[in-house]
Amino acid sequence: MLDKKVLLCVNIDHIATIREARKGIEPNIVQATSLCEEAGADGITVHLREDRRHIQTADLFALKEIIKSRFTLEMSASDEILEIAKKIKPDLLTIVPEKRAELTTEGGLNLKDQKENIKVFLAKAFDLSLKASLFIEPDLETIEIAHQIGAKQIELHTGKYSNYLVNSTESLSELKRIETASKFAKDLGFKVNLGHGLNLQNLPPILKIKDLEELHIGHSIIARAVLIGLPLAVKEVKDLIKNS
Ligand code: PXP
Repeated sequence: MLDKKVLLCVNIDHIATIREARKGIEPNIVQATSLCEEAGADGITVHLREDRRHIQTADLFALKEIIKSRFTLEMSASDEILEIAKKIKPDLLTIVPEKRAELTTEGGLNLKDQKENIKVFLAKAFDLSLKASLFIEPDLETIEIAHQIGAKQIELHTGKYSNYLVNSTESLSELKRIETASKFAKDLGFKVNLGHGLNLQNLPPILKIKDLEELHIGHSIIARAVLIGLPLAVKEVKDLIKNS
């Protein structure tokens, strides 16, 4: 039997990062969502940060109306955001650690210290009939705790792997750690997603890991889109000037 292909969920936070640079309406995230889906994205992911540095609360309501694929909301274990999630009802909540000063989500949830807090938060999400996944390091003890507190789905943080040069000794050893963690989690009955720092270069070895559900990829896709789209954007303005 053919292996089931892993799904690609595109994180569009950085479309909103560019928009927020001018606090305007461009680039439009609804349009970006449709373009991603038309190109084959299996899902759209956004992170509503407590500091609202990119995605805004109103964006979630707009996205809810138009996402045809699956809608994943990344969020901290915050009651304020859960109140919003309750109204939006995304297909999946991914609970992430969040620090105000960080540039991006650094590391997974510290379940060794936060076990009780996250257990209570997960139960609140489940009571609202929301599906929730925990963003954690590929660490067996952490996966074991996720299992104990009732999680059914996890996303393994690939940030450390993606910081190493592809095929370097460090990268291969981190890849092995992700593979082992993924198998351990699958055997415990988890649905396993992966994400953070993945790109065209470091993705091929990851794709050899069996039975993954979803990849959540943002920065590299948006960064590449800017470069691929730049010649056309410049040409449009040049043509306008030429024809004036
Ligand atoms: N998964 C989670 C839980 C994240 O917090 C992020 C970053 O928002 C990603 C995946 C995507 O990471 P990147 O933008 O590096 O592809």
